[in-house]
Amino acid sequence: MAGRILLTGGAGYIGSHTFLALRAAGYDPVILDDFSNANSDVPDRLAHISGAPVAVLRADIRDESRLRQIFADHDFDAVIHFAAKKAVAESVAKPLLYFDTNIGGLLTLTTVMAEHGCKTIVFSSSATVYGEPDETPTPETAPRRAINPYGQTKIMSEEILESMVKADPDWTVGILRYFNPAGAHPSGLIGENPRDIPNNLMPYIAKVAIGELPEIQVFGSDYDTPDGTGVRDYIHVEDLAQAHLLSLQSLLQKRKSHLVNIGSGQGYSVLEMVKAYSRACGRDLPYRIVDRRPGDVPIYCAKTGKAEEILGFRSQYDLDAICASSWRWISGQN
Ligand code: UD1
Repeated sequence: MAGRILLTGGAGYIGSHTFLALRAAGYDPVILDDFSNANSDVPDRLAHISGAPVAVLRADIRDESRLRQIFADHDFDAVIHFAAKKAVAESVAKPLLYFDTNIGGLLTLTTVMAEHGCKTIVFSSSATVYGEPDETPTPETAPRRAINPYGQTKIMSEEILESMVKADPDWTVGILRYFNPAGAHPSGLIGENPRDIPNNLMPYIAKVAIGELPEIQVFGSDYDTPDGTGVRDYIHVEDLAQAHLLSLQSLLQKRKSHLVNIGSGQGYSVLEMVKAYSRACGRDLPYRIVDRRPGDVPIYCAKTGKAEEILGFRSQYDLDAICASSWRWISGQN
């Protein structure tokens, strides 16, 4: 066995795909989740796909005594820390909830990790740390700028982890700045399925495709982009799962921290996304242009060279593969 790895938020969208990538590579992943934003049947589905039982611990990362117990009971080689809140508008309305969960959770987790001599962590950061970037594709050296409390928590988390590495060289930290994760597992058994009306484009389009929502609202058509709609770098969640595996392997083998963008390096507009999904589901999906969403930026696109150089990571799946996998997943839900 290559090592026992704790996945906080491991039953969530990105965590569950990473669980499968780790297991396929011979690791022994253990899920810790409070199921506040994950379905309770995810562990059973993961067991079904991977053909082996799944270890699940139901816990809140802010519960220090419970975390101590968990670390005393298990000998973890590393942690991949997904558990966090991620809705921008909610973070504006409830900043303390975001600081408590995202910052408080990180502090509790890393404190308990250090107490148990487990000092290897892969952290889920976000392109949101670039705010409105001056440069696209955006390199990792671009300045960090927060435009909402969610973004603040990601910048603060990166800074906390960087200070820990400076203070104690035994810590090795992999910071992955995700661009826009999308798509689902090829089995069609796991994917993203928000409980409420989705905030993000891809799950929203998926719900229109299955007829749960009437039409896609395109937030603004007057951006300085080729067709006037927002451009994003969509990365297949299967590619993202591989990136976590490569990050973990690099930390465990080279004992050297890294901070990298994880994207495809290719930007697509909202209208291109609508067209691609229409091809995947076999009908033209209805959409309407509405006002811009406050706080949105025109373009996010990753400069990808550093992840390739340090981790050997390169995305494999294109936009059609992303949409086809999302459609397989969402159409199997009904
Ligand atoms: C959003 C967050 C980002 C976070 C990420 C993951 C904002 C401003 N940014 O990224 O910080 O890391 O989610 O949770 O919320 N769009 C529509 N109609 C919709 C939904 C989206 O036209 O119903 C457009 C948006 O204007 C944007 C693009 O689609 O141009 C992608 O939006 P979305 O999927 O919400 O992702 P981000 O805004 O990039």
